[in-house]
Amino acid sequence: MNALPALETSTTSAPRKPRVMVLFGGRSGEHAISCVTAGGVLGVIDRDRYDVLAVGITPTGRWVLTSDDPERWAITDGTLPSIEDTDAHVLLPQDVGDREVQVREDGGVPRALGEVDVVFPLLHGPFGEDGTLQGMLELADVRYVGSGVLASALGMDKHAMKVVLTGNGLPVAPYAVVMPGELDRDPQGVLARVAPLGLPLFVKPARAGSSLGISRVDDLADLPAALAEAAQHDPKVLVESAVVGREVECGVLGAPAGGRPRASLPGEIVVSDPEHAFYDFEAKYLGEGGVVLTCPADLGPELTERVRDVAVRTFEAIGCEGLARVDVFVTPDGDVVVNEINTMPGFTPFSMYPRLWQATGLEYPELVDELISLALARPTGLR
Ligand SMILES: Nc1ncnc2c1ncn2[C@@H]1O[C@H](COP(=O)(O)OP(=O)(O)O)[C@@H](O)[C@H]1O
Ligand SMILES: [Mg+2]
Repeated sequence: MNALPALETSTTSAPRKPRVMVLFGGRSGEHAISCVTAGGVLGVIDRDRYDVLAVGITPTGRWVLTSDDPERWAITDGTLPSIEDTDAHVLLPQDVGDREVQVREDGGVPRALGEVDVVFPLLHGPFGEDGTLQGMLELADVRYVGSGVLASALGMDKHAMKVVLTGNGLPVAPYAVVMPGELDRDPQGVLARVAPLGLPLFVKPARAGSSLGISRVDDLADLPAALAEAAQHDPKVLVESAVVGREVECGVLGAPAGGRPRASLPGEIVVSDPEHAFYDFEAKYLGEGGVVLTCPADLGPELTERVRDVAVRTFEAIGCEGLARVDVFVTPDGDVVVNEINTMPGFTPFSMYPRLWQATGLEYPELVDELISLALARPTGLR
């Protein structure tokens, strides 16, 4: 009556390779970039060492089995890749201690896909980089690359991030927060808090990325439109004083338990086209704005060390694990002001984070390998 399932009883077979679920796409505005990143990682992940399972998340949030062919995820003829909805619906393990991932096709009976040892979430923005996915993986007791729940959430929320950084003595630009509904309720109050920040201002959604919804405001008359634009991405909006300085980014890589995080050499971003008032979406991804990424940045030894020190302290203050890119402004006086931390930075082979590590002596494939190794060595739960 209760037939036993076939068991793998062979004792002679080689130990199973760790199985990595590469997870990408997602519900945020950075869906396409995530797919491009996945192409990069799928192209270099060492398949002699790891089994790979490619899982895509559609823009509406459905998890589907998808292609692990790097070519599929390249930008072809200017068309950005995306995850297509299919009927191959992927299901995470439901029980602690069970690592079996399943796929349900055409609404049928779920079929086993094998165990997953570690998830590599290549997701940017909300529902990927913000702690929500990390919480789900914690509940499922599945190991994953990168920061945990709280650090991911803090890194995503530019307001919460500033509170924690300020509390740890790290410098950030002066700012005001406009809470959901506040602009409608008390427009004069908002203006009174924002005015002392001076001009120009940067208005940004508290929880977005890729410069989506961000505007530079040079005239207070433009503030309401900028707030409305940001609020389309997040009801919580941040208004910041513009910092005059060079835009410098530093990669930080976690260390095995107990070790100090490592900082890469810093790199610099220069947007030279006056059509782009800052490092906006088009400048980041569409090759506009005459953007030059220089790494290592020409800062001299003392400033370089200052940036690396601030980057590591920022990583530690937020409680990051695995990887993060810390973006700072270096002012003409040599002050280092933290702009933001990205717990899942752009990660294509041409993105700043991998390039920074390459300039520091760690090639992209080794970086991917290092991140997976760190994640495999780290259990879920409090640590
Ligand atoms: N306070 C500021 N002063 C000067 N430039 C800023 C400031 N805030 C943002 N920027 C510009 O806007 C870009 C995007 O802002 P950022 O806060 O990094 O958002 P995102 O998370 O979308 O990358 C920055 O790279 C920089 O060019
Ligand atoms: Mg940024």
